[in-house]
Amino acid sequence: MKAFWTLHSNLPREGPGDAAMLDRALRAARVAETAQILDAGAGPGADIAALLTHVPRGHVTAIEQHADFARAAAARFAGNPQVTVKTGDMADPGGAYDLIWCAGALYFLGVEAGLRAWRTALRPGGQVIFSDAIWLTAARPDEAVRNWQEYPAMTDRAGVARAIAAAGYTLLDDWVLPDAAWEAYYTPLEARVEMLPPQAETDPALAATLAEARSEIALWRRHRRVFGYGLFRVRLQ
Ligand SMILES: C[S@@+](CC[C@H](N)C(=O)[O-])C[C@H]1O[C@@H](n2cnc3c(N)ncnc32)[C@H](O)[C@@H]1O
Repeated sequence: MKAFWTLHSNLPREGPGDAAMLDRALRAARVAETAQILDAGAGPGADIAALLTHVPRGHVTAIEQHADFARAAAARFAGNPQVTVKTGDMADPGGAYDLIWCAGALYFLGVEAGLRAWRTALRPGGQVIFSDAIWLTAARPDEAVRNWQEYPAMTDRAGVARAIAAAGYTLLDDWVLPDAAWEAYYTPLEARVEMLPPQAETDPALAATLAEARSEIALWRRHRRVFGYGLFRVRLQ
């Protein structure tokens, strides 16, 4: 875990995503200026600033299970009365919210189970916008499949649409995150990977973590048309 934090501390974000796609989805959602938003699995708070631009008189609550990430998010918005950062479990986020934003984190709960858990956290007519790793093609090279073994439930767009319906939501829009959203995560991560090798010479766990990150980034560059992140906007039925 120490090696993970050496690599990941103070990175701007912890998964693919960028303000352009967030803006596109939030414009489609037409949230009120006063809306209450939950950023579920907020990591270090990468999306909070962009969320705030859509709710100039509203509020963003960020919930994150790792205290170090929550502290980083809280430090970014210290003194801002429009932002509350909580260390906690997004399965039980309180509420009620007009919109739940969840970038790259819903797979921890499972799409169907997570959406079910959020039914009582939403106001009537409330929406959820979440991203989830999906297969983009039927042909899936072995090395790409091996890379995603940690997410055995990973499916394609149709599979996510079925999970959304099973949880009692209507799918309103969906997009595939562009390469720029991946680069927003991988470019700073890669810079950190290139900076750390001197430290890794005496730290085998860190050396292994760096090798893993390098191989994950290279794999995405090779197979970026085979898998990606879908961004889904859904509403309670
Ligand atoms: C891939 S990262 C994405 C973070 C952030 N949304 C971003 O895009 O930078 C997923 C985050 O979800 C958090 N997470 C996972 N399960 C959680 C749970 N049950 N409650 C709160 N946070 C959780 C992880 O700690 C991690 O920070």
